[in-house]
Amino acid sequence: MKTEVSAQANVSAANVKQPQAAAGGTARILDGNALSAKLRDQLAQRAAALKAKGVTPCLAVILVGEDPASQVYVRNKVNGCEKTGIRSLKDVYPPDVDPKVVLDRIAELNADPGVHGILVQLPLPKHFNSDAVLEAISPEKDVDGFHAENVGALMQGNPRFIPCTPYGVMKMLESENVPLKGAEAVIVGRSNIVGKPMAMLLLSKSATVTVCHSQSKELAFHTRRADILVAAVGRAKMITGDMIKPGATVIDVGINRQADGKLCGDVDFESAKDVAGVITPVPGGVGPMTITMLLTNTLESAERTVK
Ligand code: GUN
Repeated sequence: MKTEVSAQANVSAANVKQPQAAAGGTARILDGNALSAKLRDQLAQRAAALKAKGVTPCLAVILVGEDPASQVYVRNKVNGCEKTGIRSLKDVYPPDVDPKVVLDRIAELNADPGVHGILVQLPLPKHFNSDAVLEAISPEKDVDGFHAENVGALMQGNPRFIPCTPYGVMKMLESENVPLKGAEAVIVGRSNIVGKPMAMLLLSKSATVTVCHSQSKELAFHTRRADILVAAVGRAKMITGDMIKPGATVIDVGINRQADGKLCGDVDFESAKDVAGVITPVPGGVGPMTITMLLTNTLESAERTVK
């Protein structure tokens, strides 16, 4: 897949027609489960076609420690593989494991021609050098798109693997035909996993991109200008309806556990849905799409071995 990274000058954002809220001021819900189901059906067919050629796509997942959220994510990734016809390998290590043990395992997986994707679930325990671990993964199997070589390729507009969460967000925007060219896109959060690659992808589609973060002044000033607002900070309900431009497309990447055990996003859905034109729910929005794009990257990696 080729993505051109180019900013377009002299675009009047005011001319970009964005989706409008339905009558009664209630936003359209962008259902990540429904879109995922459709995409995963197509992936299952591609996996079957590969198997017919004698190649079983395979993802290796490494989990270090006992973080409950990471355990859930890894379980969902492995289940997603199973249902799509992708083989998965799962290695779980105790929190105090010697990093060398993990690095040796990565070297083994790099050398195994039957493995097409390798993922190390983040965050890693503090005694790990996470960058060193991510750099140890072969860039050809780095289905997370976190290796420096793949980050550079994305930045140059020639991505090998697009990081799964921002890739999923782009698919969701595409499915709703949200206009991107010349649109004001505001991302709240500057992580390597979501905020930064999200900015590159939106820029490659000629949006005007603003990235806000914990030190940004007047956050609401920026968010209220957004035709497309992506919230990826990990703070429950911090984006409220009064911070959203009427008719905006609001993408909520946050997954936060509340005191009552329920999940919520970075967006206060109740107040936001009356203002936004389109909004993603939590759960059932971006979350399933992240896994769908991981499966997509793994299949693409396997397909490259037979091309
Ligand atoms: N932790 C939170 N999100 C991700 C992700 O997309 N990939 C990995 N490997 N770890 C994560």
